[in-house]
Amino acid sequence: MASEPTIEDYYIEDRTFPPSPEFTAAALVNDRSLYDEAEADLEAFWARQARELVTWDQDFSTVLEWDLPFAKWFADGKLNVSYNCLDRHVEAGRGDKVAYYWEGEPGDKLTLTYSDLLTEVKKFANVLKGLGLEKGDRVAIYMPMIPELPIAMLACTRIGVAHSVIFGGFSPDAITDRCEDAEAKLIITADAGYRRGAPSGLKVNVDAALESGATCVEHVVVVNRCDTDVTMTSGRDHWWHEIMADASDDCPAEPMDAEQLLYLLYTSGTTAKPKGIMHTTGGYLTQVAFTHKYTFDMKPDEDIYWCAADIGWVTGHSYIVYGPLTNGCTGVMYEGTPDTPGQDRLWDIVERYRVTQLYTAPTAIRTFMKWGVQEPQKHDLSSLRVLGTVGEPINPEAWMWYHEHIGGSSAPIVDTWWQTETGGHMITPLPGVTTTKPGSACFAIPGVTAELVDDNGDPVTKGGGYLTITKPWPSMLRGIWGDPERYRETYWSAYEGRYFAGDGAKLDEDGYLWLLGRVDDVMNVSGHRISTTEVESALVDHPAVAEAAVVGAADDTTGQAIIGYTILRGGNEATEELREEVRQHVSTKLGAIARPKAVFLVDDLPKTRSGKIMRRLLRDVAEGRDLGDTTTLADAGVVEAIREGADTAEED
Ligand code: WTA
Repeated sequence: MASEPTIEDYYIEDRTFPPSPEFTAAALVNDRSLYDEAEADLEAFWARQARELVTWDQDFSTVLEWDLPFAKWFADGKLNVSYNCLDRHVEAGRGDKVAYYWEGEPGDKLTLTYSDLLTEVKKFANVLKGLGLEKGDRVAIYMPMIPELPIAMLACTRIGVAHSVIFGGFSPDAITDRCEDAEAKLIITADAGYRRGAPSGLKVNVDAALESGATCVEHVVVVNRCDTDVTMTSGRDHWWHEIMADASDDCPAEPMDAEQLLYLLYTSGTTAKPKGIMHTTGGYLTQVAFTHKYTFDMKPDEDIYWCAADIGWVTGHSYIVYGPLTNGCTGVMYEGTPDTPGQDRLWDIVERYRVTQLYTAPTAIRTFMKWGVQEPQKHDLSSLRVLGTVGEPINPEAWMWYHEHIGGSSAPIVDTWWQTETGGHMITPLPGVTTTKPGSACFAIPGVTAELVDDNGDPVTKGGGYLTITKPWPSMLRGIWGDPERYRETYWSAYEGRYFAGDGAKLDEDGYLWLLGRVDDVMNVSGHRISTTEVESALVDHPAVAEAAVVGAADDTTGQAIIGYTILRGGNEATEELREEVRQHVSTKLGAIARPKAVFLVDDLPKTRSGKIMRRLLRDVAEGRDLGDTTTLADAGVVEAIREGADTAEED
């Protein structure tokens, strides 16, 4: 594991931003009592949150069973997620409250109340039952950001079926792999979704995926979103609107064990094969409800909350669907891209719905910076009172821009560090309490214990180290689907008794945490995790490629950009066409988000004497940096040759 941080100069930052006295006075949390309570008795703290924020069909008698690294939270408790997200709000007389203001990219709108959602969820749960799905089964979901997506997820939770949402940007191969690994019996999709003003096909990818494998999939349910032509396979494929037309809306929520599998979400690690991260019911719901409420200072009666992520990623699972709905909030859901029809689309939405909390990613903020302040200035953003960021370290310039131009220099910024594996926020300011510093995620939340360690696993109290979590937390992953050993090995073996997150961080003299990025072979491109190994496998899958190395190079907008170096098999000529073909091949294999920004065709790759590719050098070349020490290289000349090639090769 390479230990160099990718972003070095962060914590020279010494500006501080305390919440305003007015904000603090009105905030849900304005002192350290939650921290103190959690520190005094972690289990009692989470038990109180679980009982306060979640409704249980059967109360739990144990809080945590910990058999390192396997945790069970609230094990003998029973609850239903869709009941917590929907029925209980309706039963309490809040059925007419808006759950989502949904807006499609072309501008079509739909307002869904909690009652509306509940009816649709019950009906779709009956559809699933009708298609033979039973508690314990898995279904895959490959959909655009339309209301049917949360409806499908919640319907699964109602009957104990685990969903596996596959991001709409993934390729047919990725769908096949994920469906096969999860043994999904059914896929829910749409004909297409709107992206940048035009329909982007989804069903066609599902068809291709099912042609090449995933024989476990028996049925496909298709939402007609864009009215595009699709091929429907008789007996296998069903239109959502047709199958829903006859569905009964009588479907009681079934109480589930707290540790019932809620969902799988595949994420990249250091190996070529994405891992199915497992999240279960009671602990997950508790922590996402807790963090959604306190990180964003949510006041469900007043606030209009908007998480502008995609539900295909964990941020959307926890903070568009499960956290906000458990808390009975009103949220905005938007289908498309932020530059359609204009570069002020987000700000237009904020103004029209009077959004109070906005949650987005540093890569988006840097893009908005590039587009210019005139875009947000066209709109009244004064409703915004808390701003969130997630997905990668936020550079202080982007933080300041967000603060000044979006937050009117007053809205607290919560920089939330967490992962697919952690399920919910782990390190973040609390907006009414924490004095923030631009670029720091500040402190672990109440109930979470983070610590930096050095190479030997000894705690670091100041300076750089590896970020570890020292105690189990309710929304932690319960394992990797089908591979308990890999779970132990990946997360719990680097430092004894500690969860190792894969991130480097620094602690400053005031105890603030500054995340520095991944220290493993995982790249972070526009806030998306992509494994170098996965892209390398896709490159060598091309018949002309003999060997490949991939690195993430610093990029002003996307955080990191994927750069591939490939050696061609004999008989292939290094042409511009071939270079582009190889680059596109990754797109076909993995999806457009994994397509390298540039691919270089080289004669050789720099390797250590033991034959390991020196990715650090390749990254330095890609970033145009000085090469530093190359004495461990088997053939130092290789680097020079690569650098010359890189200087002349065109990027697009
Ligand atoms: C990175 C996204 C710095 C980190 C929720 C982590 C961050 C990976 C932050 C998880 C942040 C996420 N500051 N880095 N606020 N948030 N990361 O699984 O490297 O898609 O390990 O989950 O994103 O990415 P994932």
